[in-house]
Amino acid sequence: MASLCTTSFKLNTGYSIPAIGLGTWQGTPGTDESELLQSTIKYALSQGYHCIDTAAAYEVEEDVRAAIAESEVPREEIFVVTKLWNAMHDRVEEAFLTSLQKLGLEYIDLYLMHWPMSSDDQMNVLDHPTPAETWLSMEALIKKYPTKLRSIGVSNFSEKTIKPLLEVATIIPAVNQIEIHPMLPQFELVDAFAKHGILTMAYSPLGQYNSPVLTHPDIIALAEKYKVPTGALVLSWEVQRGIVAVPKSTNKERIVSNITLLPELSPEDKKVLDEFHLRKGMHRRLCTVGNGVRPTGNDIVFGWTYEQLGWETFTVDE
Ligand SMILES: NC(=O)c1ccc[n+]([C@@H]2O[C@H](COP(=O)([O-])OP(=O)(O)OC[C@H]3O[C@@H](n4cnc5c(N)ncnc54)[C@H](OP(=O)(O)O)[C@@H]3O)[C@@H](O)[C@H]2O)c1
Repeated sequence: MASLCTTSFKLNTGYSIPAIGLGTWQGTPGTDESELLQSTIKYALSQGYHCIDTAAAYEVEEDVRAAIAESEVPREEIFVVTKLWNAMHDRVEEAFLTSLQKLGLEYIDLYLMHWPMSSDDQMNVLDHPTPAETWLSMEALIKKYPTKLRSIGVSNFSEKTIKPLLEVATIIPAVNQIEIHPMLPQFELVDAFAKHGILTMAYSPLGQYNSPVLTHPDIIALAEKYKVPTGALVLSWEVQRGIVAVPKSTNKERIVSNITLLPELSPEDKKVLDEFHLRKGMHRRLCTVGNGVRPTGNDIVFGWTYEQLGWETFTVDE
């Protein structure tokens, strides 16, 4: 059985990004789970992970720092991703330097605009900076700090929201990090961004906690065929699509199986996963994006509607 766990992809900046990274969002920023997260990251690094996905908003960058510092894996072998929070779009340089300092690193591999909308500290959405204006600040940042920042990108962007950004950009985003799993495959979006040279990263790649994907009988049957857990099956499907996935787990067995048991799926089996979302009620978002509630298709996300985000709509009972 061929394994995909050593796969990496080339960014448009020339740097390589591992196909699997460890997610670090604990779901509830500010909760006292530091020790668990630190030991989780250290364990993951010891088991072959070379990519860590974090964000200023997760309030765990100092835990990432501690784990990397204590790990035996050299810094240059770890690809670190962090993100600019919505309330800092007007202070990109300050936000970046704060993340750099909290992470305790000489450089960050990839800095993403976490969401297209800017907001004030109370999370009221602002008209300015627009996503394009924030992008220009990120371009200025990487030009000012070429040794401290290697690549810049975006997250949660759609074809609608990337258009005005690309109209002003002199640097094409290296990555767009979006929700992807078999219930939300986002084929058109991934292809459209690939045409611009933008690589897709999948967040909530397993469908988040209590994922209805991983407990579905057909997914279980397919995973049994390859003798892997359902999580590894789904991650294989994503990596085979040319997508980076950043699953989060604090369970040792799942941390390992998410990176080591990645079989190469046959075209017929890949098709089962490709078409999973076409089943009744199976096409929807699963990521709670911070409020603990599964999306219904009619949600306001950090002050923007799906229409503003350019996200496809769905109904839970379709
Ligand atoms: N850019 C953004 O806006 C954004 C939004 C959301 C997330 N993210 C990033 O993406 C990362 C991952 O997304 P996520 O945490 O939302 O969802 P996820 O990785 O799809 O799912 C995590 C959940 O799945 C469980 N799990 C992990 N491996 C499993 C396996 N093999 N079998 C069964 N269950 C498994 C975990 O529980 P255990 O811990 O018990 O294993 C946890 O409850 C985040 O940590 C964050 O870094 C980014």
